[in-house]
Amino acid sequence: MIRKKTLRDIDVKGKKVLVRVDYNVPLDSKGEVADDTRIRATLPTLRYLISQEAKTILISHLGRPKGKIDPAVKLDPIARALSSLLGQEVKKVDKTVTEEVKEVVNNLKGGEVLLLENVRFNPGEATNDPNFARQLADLADIYVNDAFGTAHRAHASTVGVTAFLPSVAGFLLEEELRNLSQLLEAPAAPFCAVLGGNKVSDKIGVIKNFLGLVDCLILGGGMCFTFLKAGGFSIGDSIIQEDFLKEAEFLIEKASKDKCRILLPDDVVIAKEISSEAEFKVVEVKDGIPNGWRGLDIGPRTAEKYSEIIRNAKTVFWNGPMGVFEIEAFSNGTRQICQALAANQGVTIVGGGDSDAALRRFASKDQVTFVSTGGGACLKFLEGTPLPGVEALDNKE
Ligand code: 3PG
Repeated sequence: MIRKKTLRDIDVKGKKVLVRVDYNVPLDSKGEVADDTRIRATLPTLRYLISQEAKTILISHLGRPKGKIDPAVKLDPIARALSSLLGQEVKKVDKTVTEEVKEVVNNLKGGEVLLLENVRFNPGEATNDPNFARQLADLADIYVNDAFGTAHRAHASTVGVTAFLPSVAGFLLEEELRNLSQLLEAPAAPFCAVLGGNKVSDKIGVIKNFLGLVDCLILGGGMCFTFLKAGGFSIGDSIIQEDFLKEAEFLIEKASKDKCRILLPDDVVIAKEISSEAEFKVVEVKDGIPNGWRGLDIGPRTAEKYSEIIRNAKTVFWNGPMGVFEIEAFSNGTRQICQALAANQGVTIVGGGDSDAALRRFASKDQVTFVSTGGGACLKFLEGTPLPGVEALDNKE
């Protein structure tokens, strides 16, 4: 249970409730919502507020419009998608805190839902301007944060507003914290973390925090080539973050002292380019990747070895694909990781948009314990860094 107040601890009946959600979702070429996962994830909170006859005022960002109006990231498609998911009209206004908006809010009836315009159109959002935060707060009686994906940002709609209203966690935020906390607080052993994706820089904080916690840290994806190079292997033209070579070397050494196994691929799939037409082959890491070739997936032997560890672990966290899984020739590693997670009977937690997409392609979300809606926020939390959007909420007495 989290030490912050939640929707369960507060009476919202008939009240005006400002709910920060994270509807930063991908749009398709027609500008409609391409993946509604983050919208669906807020439905328990919204349905509860509707059942309490609350007047729900939703606030979200989409993209990074940097304080200016950008028609490409207006929230109208979100309002349409949410209306159909809720089975009731979601009203939408083109502004956030004007007198006009206040009037619409004051005319809301119990059980109605209103979506404000993209909060990042306002320059005061990202700077956490107290005047803007106050204007947001003036719209409502209670503030609910259900935007786990944005909880690592100290913005006006995630932090500033909490200075002016009773502020509690929504059901999604609560669920995210409950699930992710079990990874940091006494996870059942063996605990195995599987990290992939391209950037070492995104994962370095989690790797450091996990070294003292996990029994085994499995590395794959583009980021493993920085570690392989730090370990003295030739990596050809594989992606690398030179700035992190020293750190990678230090972490490999630290892991051996902490008795945590860091596993790197023994074989990799290589090609000259990222293309479904490209010629590809499997090479042993110890033999080196030739110049002109780059690693684009873990090899079949490594995928087998990683899968067995994952299947037998009691706790698994996975973030980041093992290769360019969108292309069949480089998808085997990620596919096998997904299938091993699906076969695991313990606690299996997945974070990050790419891992979520891969899981849906190669297995099913119902086959794991929890899939986080947060990318950066999930990693920050697992680094052990307090999330400003959570810290700002009212404490339980
Ligand atoms: C995300 O998609 O990770 C969140 O919505 C946060 O978006 P941001 O990185 O633009 O703050």
